[in-house]
Amino acid sequence: MEEILAYYIVMPKEIAPPVISLGSLKKRFGIGDAEHYAINGIDLTIEKGEFIAIMGPSGCGKTTLLNIMGLLDTEIEGEYDLDGRAIAGLSKWRHARIRSRQIGFVFQSFNLIPRLTVIENVALPLTYKGVPATKRLKRASEILTNFHLGEREYYMPHQLSGGQLQRVAIARALVNKPSIILADEPTGNLDSRASHIIMEELSDLHKRGNTIIMVTHNPNLTTYASRVITMLDGRIDTDTYRLPVPSRVATKKPLGTPKVKSKKKDRS
Ligand SMILES: Nc1ncnc2c1ncn2[C@@H]1O[C@H](COP(=O)(O)OP(=O)(O)O)[C@@H](O)[C@H]1O
Ligand SMILES: [Mg+2]
Repeated sequence: MEEILAYYIVMPKEIAPPVISLGSLKKRFGIGDAEHYAINGIDLTIEKGEFIAIMGPSGCGKTTLLNIMGLLDTEIEGEYDLDGRAIAGLSKWRHARIRSRQIGFVFQSFNLIPRLTVIENVALPLTYKGVPATKRLKRASEILTNFHLGEREYYMPHQLSGGQLQRVAIARALVNKPSIILADEPTGNLDSRASHIIMEELSDLHKRGNTIIMVTHNPNLTTYASRVITMLDGRIDTDTYRLPVPSRVATKKPLGTPKVKSKKKDRS
């Protein structure tokens, strides 16, 4: 134990392994004539604390990539190291354990269980972890209060709005205190106002040091991310780091640029 502690204490930040490292990653679906590479050679390194937005046309492999990163799909070609460890060398049992302790999923369709109350839905991941019932409900209640859903704990999912449902789904994804949050079009079913509320929640989690990887179709939402990746035909097309500057400052022209009246309205 002391040895492990010493290792973490003396290890400088710069040499901490990336959270996710993919090398020549491929994923094939189908056989024979139907054979198709949904992921077709991806090299990608993600450091702790990044907030990544992934964009790209339908069918380009975004969900497949997220499922691989979240260990929902481990039948892959190429390399995948999570926290510096090759996942190929770990058993199915280890994969499930990592998934339940380290990774939080948020889906477009919320994926709540309709016959369970809000609090039961949020507490569910703790059941798989073997946390006793009282503790589960206490932890779920705390997190729902943080998400301003304390008064809705004993509602059924059908009694909530889309924005509230997605906040419940995020609360459920976070109840295990995962360090990586994977979100597949989390605002896909929400209006603009509800989308921004969800993005503020994700942004907050990012500021607290979590790594967030989010698929979105909405270019406006990429302003919350620190890095934007676009995909095309199972590959990375562009990979851009964004400067963490507020949008109003970012719209200022560089020094020496001639003044031209712009008709463009600020739509933010
Ligand atoms: N389980 C599956 N079986 C066969 N093909 C699949 C499966 N899942 C995804 N695909 C195919 O892989 C490609 C990428 O899909 P997907 O990752 O869902 O794209 P995106 O999320 O970018 O819309 C598509 O051509 C899709 O049809
Ligand atoms: Mg998808």
